[in-house]
Amino acid sequence: MAEGEGVPVLHWLEKAVIVALGSLGKPSTYQEISDEAVKLLEPFTASLYDPSMLETLQNSSSIAKACGWLRDKGLITTTISKVVKYIALAGEGRRYAREGLPERRLVVKLAELGGSTNVDSLKDMQDFEIAVMWGIRNGWIQISKTPSGTLLTLKIENPEMSAQERLLQLLSQHGEMDIDGLDPTLQQAASELMTRQRVVSTSEKVVTIVSLTEAGNRVASLLMEKPLSDHLNEVTKITPGLISSGRWKNVTFSRYDVAAPVEPLFAAKRHPLLEVIRMVRKTYVELGFEEIEGPIVELAFWNFDALFQPQDHPAREMQDTFYLEYPNKGLLPMEFVEKVRAVHEHGGDTGSRGWGYKWSEKEAMRLLLRTHTTATTIRHLAKNRRPPIKVFSVDRIYRNEKVDWKHLAEFHQIEGIVVERNANLRQLMGILREFYRRLGLGLVRFRPSYFPYTEPSMEVEVKLGGRWLELGGSGIFRPETTRPFGVHLPVLAWGLGLERLAMVIYGLEDIRAFHQNDLGWLRRVSPLTPYKFRGRF
Ligand code: PHE
Repeated sequence: MAEGEGVPVLHWLEKAVIVALGSLGKPSTYQEISDEAVKLLEPFTASLYDPSMLETLQNSSSIAKACGWLRDKGLITTTISKVVKYIALAGEGRRYAREGLPERRLVVKLAELGGSTNVDSLKDMQDFEIAVMWGIRNGWIQISKTPSGTLLTLKIENPEMSAQERLLQLLSQHGEMDIDGLDPTLQQAASELMTRQRVVSTSEKVVTIVSLTEAGNRVASLLMEKPLSDHLNEVTKITPGLISSGRWKNVTFSRYDVAAPVEPLFAAKRHPLLEVIRMVRKTYVELGFEEIEGPIVELAFWNFDALFQPQDHPAREMQDTFYLEYPNKGLLPMEFVEKVRAVHEHGGDTGSRGWGYKWSEKEAMRLLLRTHTTATTIRHLAKNRRPPIKVFSVDRIYRNEKVDWKHLAEFHQIEGIVVERNANLRQLMGILREFYRRLGLGLVRFRPSYFPYTEPSMEVEVKLGGRWLELGGSGIFRPETTRPFGVHLPVLAWGLGLERLAMVIYGLEDIRAFHQNDLGWLRRVSPLTPYKFRGRF
């Protein structure tokens, strides 16, 4: 038979498995296949091209490996079926093995007492009830009622060892035993011992059964036309010796199966969240923005006060904001302190009436983990106020949140501002629409909202699977926010959630997935997925 006529390209191990299965003629275990293949090959050991093949065949994990390949080729099927039950002594069983079964101890006692006694005199004996039950079952004792009380009487003098006792002894000698390997009487004893409390424990072992498919059977009968050794005398590796000796002329070379399935290879790649951060950066840069950065540990001054957030605002409380314990305060940018104080207390020269309370420098000096990247924005704006300005940041922020499927305590915001003459709300909406359009999200809508530092303020929402998902806030900075820093032009500002956006992109239901390091998901998730969801909306 020439290869190629009905026989796919097979590794020699695969051929050995097929032939062994064909020769066994029935579904078999790895062990049986291994034994059979070795048996078929042993007579030809001397003529084998590579004698270590026999060793390989003896190893049932090589058989298992070959079976995996054959299954992929549709030549065999595997089922996990035969369940072997093992039995071993449990706690009470070990004690019984030492002290004897309760029924045995009872018979010995009865013999000592002359063969018969009143039940009451034995009541204190350990395991008494169990002993009576099994004593009667074994036909060793009997129980009878007499006018003077209930009597226990020995029926057999020194009864023979019961099957349960024999098994107990075997188990204490051998440890674990295969139930199927026991003789029928001991098997019966095993199931009796199983009904007793904590005497034995059992465990199961799963065995794989391999069967040839129809195609496998055809291949087997073709291969079996020649002895197995003929099929295995194939060279899988070319060596210098093979060439120089000229032996290469007389050997058969293994063929390559270039279509064989291989283990998937997982190359290193960026974390999916980082992938989105890069997309966002790229999109901003394409839109003409420049990136800015600011510190994670921030002054309350920049995080709140500069943004006209009153000092008694609930968001400033400990349960929403992480404050630093050490160091707990930083230096204020003195050139702005009086101006910020003025807007808070009475509006300064902004025409506003301010919040009308006494502003505290001490409160503004507190250090915290920035709760939004707007802190970075205003810090930048205070020092770079020459228009036009188009800057963005994608950075970490912290909130004292209870972590759940849509909240993390540490996450990212996508922030940006545009400062130029005549900048207006329509322009802001246009920028955000274009930003999301470039990221692949089609429908964006705006809803009136409130932030202490913007007027008007808008919430940004995107349409996702029939629902509107809130992605962040936006607006035009109030004069109370800009004037203290010498900015007189309109500032369009926004701060958007990055993780929420990433959830949309990757179709995730739970935000925690980004930090759970589920290798399966990380490997599967494609860095190109972000582009696949274009047009889904
Ligand atoms: N800082 C706001 C937040 O964290 C978002 C925002 C930024 C709103 C800029 C308006 C202007 O939710």
